[in-house]
Parts: sequence; structure tokens; C-alpha cells
Amino acid sequence: MSLPKRVVLVGPMGAGKTTIGRLLAKELGYRFMDTDRIIEERCGANIPWIFDVEGEDGFRQRETAMLEELSSEAETVLATGGGAVMRPENRPLLRKDSIIVYLRTSIEQQVERTRKDRNRPLLQSEDPEAVLRTLFALRDPIYTELADIIMYTDRKSPRLVVRQLANRI
Ligand code: S3P
Repeated sequence: MSLPKRVVLVGPMGAGKTTIGRLLAKELGYRFMDTDRIIEERCGANIPWIFDVEGEDGFRQRETAMLEELSSEAETVLATGGGAVMRPENRPLLRKDSIIVYLRTSIEQQVERTRKDRNRPLLQSEDPEAVLRTLFALRDPIYTELADIIMYTDRKSPRLVVRQLANRI
């Protein structure tokens, strides 16, 4: 069986897209890429700075441009930001030559894994759990609709998730 050209990971903040993406890329012999990190490198600034100066809209424009650029990269595992699925024009870019994996994660795990994080502007709120719940309600149906594979990550080590994924890709 032949491997897909690209594996694209989608899912909420705290799903483990970066950790699992790195390990999966190693397992498949693919390159690992992360839209958020490349945006930060190109911009020479971190995501909170981009949100502050350019607003969420500015960040989303950069994200769409990055998805477009990376859509023709072969033999890659691509980790995307949690909101990358929200712009309809991004969806064909995510789908292009790829298998889309949705890392489905409970709110409790999302909260746990993002607790000490300062790099996610959307969670710099009095009640980050409420934000995660609202975003999940909006986004879960879209992740689900886009996904070729839905992989549950709760109570699993990244290594186990990767082993299970490698068997299904
Ligand atoms: C966002 C998720 C973040 C990052 C930005 C916005 C979102 O990526 O793209 O802070 O809208 O959910 P991670 O999902 O990698 O944390």
C-alpha cells in the first residue's frame, strides 16, 4: 500500500498536533512542518505579537497564505493551528493530496495540556475552559467533516497514538 503525499493534522489547541506530528513524521520517514512555527519564523515574531499588532484577521491571512504554500509539499506531516479549518477557502488547501487526521480530544485534556501556555492569545482569558468549550462546539463538526481518520487521543501516550495512526494510514 502506498503512503499519501501528505498527512495533515487538525484538531483543537492541546490535541497534541505538534508532539504527535513530529513522532509520526519520524515513523513515516516524512518531514515535519508546523504552520504556526513557520509563520513565526517568517514574521520574526511570536503569535501573541501577531495577534496584538495585526489582529486575529492578520494572523488568519498569514495562515491561509502558509497553507497555500505548503499544500504542494510532498512527504510531509503538517501540523495546523486549531482554527485553520474555519476559513472555507482553507479547506481545499488542507485536503490537497493529503490524508486529514483529526486528533479528537476532550475539553478536560485540552484544558490540562494548555494550562501553563502563554503563546495562545485566544486562551488569555479569565476563563480559558469556557473559550475551549465554545471553540470546540463550533469546530468539532468541521474537523469531523474534513477528517479521513478520527483518532482519539485521551488517556493515550503520543507513542501509542502514533502507532495506531501508522497502522491506519
Ligand atoms: C489557534 C490555535 C493555535 C494558533 C493560534 C490560534 C486557534 O494553534 O494557531 O493561537 O484558533 O485555535 P494550536 O492549535 O497549535 O495551539
